[in-house]
Amino acid sequence: MEQQFNKINRVEGSLSLPGDKSISHRSVIFSSLAKGESVIHNLGNGEDVKSTINCFSSMGVNIENHNDTLIVKGLGLKHLKKPISPLNAGNSGTTARLISGILVNQDFDSDIIGDESLSRRPMQRIIAPLTLMGAKIQASPAATLPIKIYGTKKLNPIEYEVPVASAQVKSCVILSGLHLDDESKVIENIPSRDHTERMLDLKVSYENGKKIIRVSNKDFPVAGEYYVPGDISTSAFFMPLALLTDNSELLIKNVSLNETRSGVITILKAMGGNIVTENIKQNNGELSGDLLIKTSQLHNIEIPSDIIPNIIDEIPILTIASILASGKFSIRNAKELRGKESDRISAICSNLKHLGLNVTEYEDGFEFDGDISNPFPVFESFEDHRIAMSFAILSLLLPNGGKVDGFNSVAISNPDFIKQLKTISR
Ligand code: S3P
Repeated sequence: MEQQFNKINRVEGSLSLPGDKSISHRSVIFSSLAKGESVIHNLGNGEDVKSTINCFSSMGVNIENHNDTLIVKGLGLKHLKKPISPLNAGNSGTTARLISGILVNQDFDSDIIGDESLSRRPMQRIIAPLTLMGAKIQASPAATLPIKIYGTKKLNPIEYEVPVASAQVKSCVILSGLHLDDESKVIENIPSRDHTERMLDLKVSYENGKKIIRVSNKDFPVAGEYYVPGDISTSAFFMPLALLTDNSELLIKNVSLNETRSGVITILKAMGGNIVTENIKQNNGELSGDLLIKTSQLHNIEIPSDIIPNIIDEIPILTIASILASGKFSIRNAKELRGKESDRISAICSNLKHLGLNVTEYEDGFEFDGDISNPFPVFESFEDHRIAMSFAILSLLLPNGGKVDGFNSVAISNPDFIKQLKTISR
């Protein structure tokens, strides 16, 4: 599907966005594991979260949706039921990697499958630590989906230093350790998003600059109520739109402001963006607040490498802001982008070249300069929701607009993107 986006004159009004995707996944996972009824408010409505719901439904968890509120009747420690067919994680890396840590501890064998994109993404990063804990996992020689997980009665606790900055790997090991009597230690050098440890209220300490997370079955979740704040990664698309459109003012209400995720706000403010945070509150250990965003002149800045894991999902939209900001843009130390829903370094570079920019691609990033010379661009989404929305936003900022091919991939995280745009475009 090719979608046309025309330049907008002004952004005005307010948005309340569906729940954060990472927090939504975890709310569904923890309430499915906990024994008894949990209630989840403002759950994310993208396809990825649905994949997690479907996986737990097929393992016997009763999950009902009542007017945007999810009621989950969880089964308790090691009480999931053997699914009758392979668990389908769809496009969702978070689903596949997090549930693996749970499945290795069940008393049944299971298979995980995914769509074409997910079946290309690396799984060795979770197979390695789970195997060290004593799990048996069978995968293709390339260590990609489909994988077969042999349930094991008693795995060993682990002390594991996560070799890549990845919240999915960290969370997978934590979820496995959550099933064991003895304590496991998960060690992080570079901080990644910390929703798992916050929502499970795990013991965390710091030694020599490293974060140490301790987990055992004493931390197993209990049924309760979850209030999921609006998705900061979804909000991020609207930030450059409001900042770079004349005479604009946009209020985004109740956005997740977890400090391991809010780097996009830090960077846009450092670029000169007028973004004010208001009404800060806390629920389930997670901060949220409103963002007031006004038209600003943006200039490019040097992006420090230690902020990369924090902005990993926002690099595509930050690139769009940088195209229309003054100065040269460069990003390095971001090799992880190559293993996302698409190879995002290659996807972004290809669209930037199509615009006529001078692009240099590196294994771990890219840089560009020059002027846009293509007046009627047609961008490729590479079937990646964040690439599709990023280039839709760029199209809305270009004099003649632009088209995005394969736009329907936005449903992975935000099926209401176009509806939300209509609410705030003048
Ligand atoms: C996520 C972690 C990140 C992120 C993904 C969601 C999570 O992936 O890119 O969109 O919810 O844990 P990595 O852990 O692979 O960096």
